[in-house]
Amino acid sequence: MYANRLDNLPPYLFAQIDALKAEKRAQGVDVIDLGVGDPDLPTPSHIVDSLCEAARDPSTHHYPDYTGMIEYREAVAEWYNSRFGVSLNPKTEVLALIGSKEGIAHVPEAFVNPGDYVLATDPGYPVYKTSTLFSEGKLWEMPLKEENEFLPVFEDIPKDVVKKAKLMFFGYPNNPTAAVAPLSFFGEVVEFAKENDIVAVHDNAYSEITFDGYKAPSFLEADGAKEVGMEMHSLSKTYNMTGWRLGMACGGEELISGLGRVKTNVDSGAFDAIQRAGITALTSSQQCVADACSVYQERRDALVSGLRDLGFEVESPKATFYVWLKVSDSMGFAKKMLDEAGIVVTPGVGFGSNGDGYVRFAITRNIERIKEAIERMRSVDF
Ligand SMILES: Cc1ncc(COP(=O)(O)O)c(C=O)c1O
Repeated sequence: MYANRLDNLPPYLFAQIDALKAEKRAQGVDVIDLGVGDPDLPTPSHIVDSLCEAARDPSTHHYPDYTGMIEYREAVAEWYNSRFGVSLNPKTEVLALIGSKEGIAHVPEAFVNPGDYVLATDPGYPVYKTSTLFSEGKLWEMPLKEENEFLPVFEDIPKDVVKKAKLMFFGYPNNPTAAVAPLSFFGEVVEFAKENDIVAVHDNAYSEITFDGYKAPSFLEADGAKEVGMEMHSLSKTYNMTGWRLGMACGGEELISGLGRVKTNVDSGAFDAIQRAGITALTSSQQCVADACSVYQERRDALVSGLRDLGFEVESPKATFYVWLKVSDSMGFAKKMLDEAGIVVTPGVGFGSNGDGYVRFAITRNIERIKEAIERMRSVDF
């Protein structure tokens, strides 16, 4: 019944976890879900108010502009300038997205011909892989290993693959490893992409979720980045707006225009009222972002110190709301956590074969629940 491209999709592990979770809940287990990468904190009220006001204005009720409201694109450009010192032309170098997932899902269609290689970090956000498959590109997984600080090693990619590579997906602060990348790494990406004619697509969804004074760079801060690539960004994680579906692609004019041409043919843009609320989010005080980061930092500290107390060796991440823990068997560990402690964590293998041997904890639950999870883990024989 289905097209081959559906049959070729990797099994969706997260759906399996959801089924197991539902089964446990049906048995009356009080499940602590540290699996989901979706903030439990509400969208700040000034942003909600802005949406309510905009939604009552009938001028927002029509088809939006395909590339996004110019005022939204200007707000994105201003934000990039003040946050990263990156200057963008809002008319040609910024495109509104219906969340960054949408941009990631569509971008290969603009640049990848059937049989071209797409390089993607592994473990990685699963949509890098599925969008490659949908565009009939060939996937080359770039392993992220602890000994390389979870950065890809370009020299390890076979020459014939590099020759046929058309696009590369990578993202730091990274989901799922929580690793961060220095700006010098983005410089290396620019060189590699330039040398080999590869479109570099950086996924910066977590740039604002940082701790201990760390500030994550934008890929577009690297010299020459706009000539070779683009950055997918989003309001989802920064302002707890995952359900709103608003993001942006920023980069060189020709590249942004290619993605825009795909989008014009498949969607009709983000609701104007949501874009207006997005403008409010980007142009108002950013105190709400700092406040959310303090909450996550406190949770991170509770989880990391709890895990260390239980005898695990674990890095304290500088960014993202994830903790990436090395275990002997990721599926076995996750299953044990659910069966014996009623805790959901995500097996690393769900993010790619190189994620095997790890599990991901999401600190998107309140600190009491995180502390309770640690207490429950004390009675599990790992
Ligand atoms: C690494 C990464 N990129 C992109 C996204 C997509 O986010 P959104 O479509 O809400 O902007 C996510 C969501 O979990 C993510 O983890």
